Amino acid sequence: MVELVDTPALGAGGPFTPLEVRVLSPALACAQVIATTRPQLRLARPADVPRIARLHAESWRRHYRGAYADAFLDGDVEPERRHEWSRRLQEPDRGRAATILAEQGGSLLGFVHVIFDDDPTWGALVDNIHVAVAGQRSGLGTRLMAAAAEAVFEREPESGLYVWVLEQNTLAQAFYEARGGRCVERAPAAAPGGVAERLAGAPFKLRYAWPEAEALATAAPLRPPHGLPVSR
Ligand SMILES: CC(C)(COP(=O)(O)OP(=O)(O)OC[C@H]1O[C@@H](n2cnc3c(N)ncnc32)[C@H](O)[C@@H]1OP(=O)(O)O)[C@@H](O)C(=O)NCCC(=O)NCCS
Repeated sequence: MVELVDTPALGAGGPFTPLEVRVLSPALACAQVIATTRPQLRLARPADVPRIARLHAESWRRHYRGAYADAFLDGDVEPERRHEWSRRLQEPDRGRAATILAEQGGSLLGFVHVIFDDDPTWGALVDNIHVAVAGQRSGLGTRLMAAAAEAVFEREPESGLYVWVLEQNTLAQAFYEARGGRCVERAPAAAPGGVAERLAGAPFKLRYAWPEAEALATAAPLRPPHGLPVSR
């Protein structure tokens, strides 16, 4: 079983190398190290439902507009996500799926939900991966994918891994391609909760696949998020 807090496989230590800390001015270095202390990963619990649903809804509002209907995104998206996460986490079947959270100083920075043995050809499904805007481009998405892949590998070493990504979501596609994923299929997107009116028109989704989950299970170290000032 994966121990999700402070395991060597998930990486240990702070977000900066000693050299990076030395080149930052002392005050800035102090502020940035405090602000970017390495997030901790752990499995989700039922009490996490409201926070996960809030982050999930915020991320959909920001990134899925154009594919999901405005009326849904500006209306019921958060209660709909709360309902879905309650269903997933009230009595989680640890042999079937895992939800891994990334937290920092008590705040939820991101999460990934992976369903094992989902597809006979492509293996486990990363059903959701979302990082809060403030934490994006810091390596956290990479670390969450690695943790999901590690959980898959521990359960079934031969398993592959795949995700569906909306065709309009080119930034997430860039992330999957950077992680070595290959686009293998295009298909009509599924409506959230199976309610067709929640889609804006008829968007498509793309399947990105990794033949071996193991290839993803090596996390890159965290870096300062893009946009943070770094003195040189
Ligand atoms: C997609 C997502 C999970 C990636 O997480 P992240 O923490 O930002 O990604 P990382 O910092 O680990 O990025 C690793 C690499 O992926 C690529 N990448 C990630 N985000 C990118 C972007 N917005 N544009 C271009 N490339 C990007 C880059 O190559 C990056 O390496 P670099 O920063 O050294 O250039 C995150 O951006 C997110 O939550 N997006 C909104 C929700 C979403 O679309 N989820 C996917 C649903 S299918």
